[in-house]
Amino acid sequence: MEIRKIPHGSAAYRDTVALRDRILRAPLGLKFDENDLQREASEIHIACYCEGDSFPVGCAILCPSGEDAAVKMRQLAIDENAQGRGIGTTLVEFCEQETRELGKDLLFCHARIQAAVFYEKLGYRKTGEPFEEVGLPHVRMEKEL
Ligand SMILES: CC(C)(COP(=O)(O)OP(=O)(O)OC[C@H]1O[C@@H](n2cnc3c(N)ncnc32)[C@H](O)[C@@H]1OP(=O)(O)O)[C@@H](O)C(=O)NCCC(=O)NCCS
Repeated sequence: MEIRKIPHGSAAYRDTVALRDRILRAPLGLKFDENDLQREASEIHIACYCEGDSFPVGCAILCPSGEDAAVKMRQLAIDENAQGRGIGTTLVEFCEQETRELGKDLLFCHARIQAAVFYEKLGYRKTGEPFEEVGLPHVRMEKEL
């Protein structure tokens, strides 16, 4: 498996958008538009590939916020045929390493409630009350690195 950062707007980035559309958006009847994607230009895009494949099997985005010590991880998605094989875990560990390399020491996300156990197993804890995002219950979760 290979995990790497990819440039915003690249062909690899477009592949991650297709993956995110399929795994995260389409089941909710939502779709990305060009304005959504333009707003991602300053974020760090990460893609994960199985050996020999050119289409990503997983992806994530990191959003560092200026002087803040915290980085937000979002849009974590693993291909439906590859879930439950440890790829999500490996991708989160890569995000944690990237966060450390940025000199930051807190990684957080808005986790879908249905995925909270996945993050808990990786050492993330819930902070605050559940809230709604894209029509689904979410909770903020964080980990000090
Ligand atoms: C949630 C997701 C990112 C997890 O990635 P993954 O590669 O399937 O997870 P892993 O194989 O690394 O699983 C690690 C552990 O978490 C558990 N786990 C994974 N997804 C889970 C879920 N939705 N609910 C409960 N436990 C889960 C696994 O069973 C495994 O437990 P184990 O170590 O005791 O065997 C992935 O399944 C996915 O993309 N789901 C659909 C989109 C989504 O919900 N994204 C997250 C939005 S916040």
